[in-house]
Amino acid sequence: MSSASGFVNRNRKAFNPPEAKPLPNVKPLKFGILGAAAIAPDALLTPVKSHPEAVVHAVAARDKARAGAFAKKHGIAKAYGSYQELIDDPEIDAIYNPLPNGLHYEWTMKALAGGKHVLLEKPCVNTAEEARKMFQLADAKGLVLLEAFHYRFHPANHRIKAIIDSGELGAVKSTKTSLTFPAGLFKTDDIRYNYSLGGGALMDMGSYTVSSMRYFTGQNPTQVLSAKHELANPQIDRRTEATFALPGSITSTIVCDLGMPWKFKLIPSMPDLNAVITCEKGDIKVTNYIAPTAYHSITVTAGGKRRVEKAYTFPDLGEPWWTTYRYQLEEFVNKVKGRPTRTWITAEDSIQNMAAIESVYAKSGLGSRPKSSYVPPV
Ligand SMILES: *[C@@H]1O[C@H](CO)[C@@H](O)[C@H](O)[C@H]1NC(C)=O
Repeated sequence: MSSASGFVNRNRKAFNPPEAKPLPNVKPLKFGILGAAAIAPDALLTPVKSHPEAVVHAVAARDKARAGAFAKKHGIAKAYGSYQELIDDPEIDAIYNPLPNGLHYEWTMKALAGGKHVLLEKPCVNTAEEARKMFQLADAKGLVLLEAFHYRFHPANHRIKAIIDSGELGAVKSTKTSLTFPAGLFKTDDIRYNYSLGGGALMDMGSYTVSSMRYFTGQNPTQVLSAKHELANPQIDRRTEATFALPGSITSTIVCDLGMPWKFKLIPSMPDLNAVITCEKGDIKVTNYIAPTAYHSITVTAGGKRRVEKAYTFPDLGEPWWTTYRYQLEEFVNKVKGRPTRTWITAEDSIQNMAAIESVYAKSGLGSRPKSSYVPPV
């Protein structure tokens, strides 16, 4: 298959996958979605179609009519006009929480208290301290809680990590992970620009750049060397650039931007979805580590030689059209069913990611996003 027709096929099936038949004698995992969120189709509704053991059973919105319209559009059996009613539905096994960041803590704590597993959008919460509390509750209740860093589940990112870990390029010296988009993707009243809801480029796009930095280096930062913002409003970074020191004399740069100004106000700036890992004996340049199913390339340069790799599937798992979210769903279901997982974002991983994000806001003086006022019952 030529790569052009591969591209078309992959992306057509990614959005319209062949539907899996339910397995006989297997009770599918029933999801409930909190909020009629724009991300839900890509993140969960499409992936469940090709998964034989998962269905979306209900959606809740504060406005019942909105939940009803969303349910109708996506073929979801039940619609609720309150988040708590959905959590209280005994048929639901797992909650998908894509609410604004500032509501993650309250509704994840309530879902866990209600005995539900939770697939939680990133960043998992506003502060590392709240993240720790959520994971402690999940642990105490014997429930699965996963921060949805979907990119990490895709074979392309596993391949990058395997090249680094193989030692062929020597030790990592520096990394640069970017996620920037031109102005126009988000409106000025988007929740991403709202401080009380946990907004900011570093929270949103930036959480991926911090996560991938920590994944590729296998280290947590020890110090923030520099932190620069361009502000959308006094409390919100539209763009953040930061550098970190990591163990092993590694220096890492992250760049994230929710809306780069257009050049000459006419030409949208090109999105930057790239990662560069510079090692002692060579480097890896990655195009599109964030949504590799659409397209990606992993260019390895060492000793005057250059090769380009791609990885759309694992040898024993996946289809070229499986998205990052589909690979993530596979492991979430495995975890809930007590089966082994090949990828997982651990509690400590999520807590450290929040800590690194907060350290940048502390360095710049912009400050952590507000803690939730929700106090769980004791
Ligand atoms: C932020 O969101 C809250 C809650 O929805 C809302 O009350 C507030 O007006 C928003 N702030 C801005 C600046 O849009």
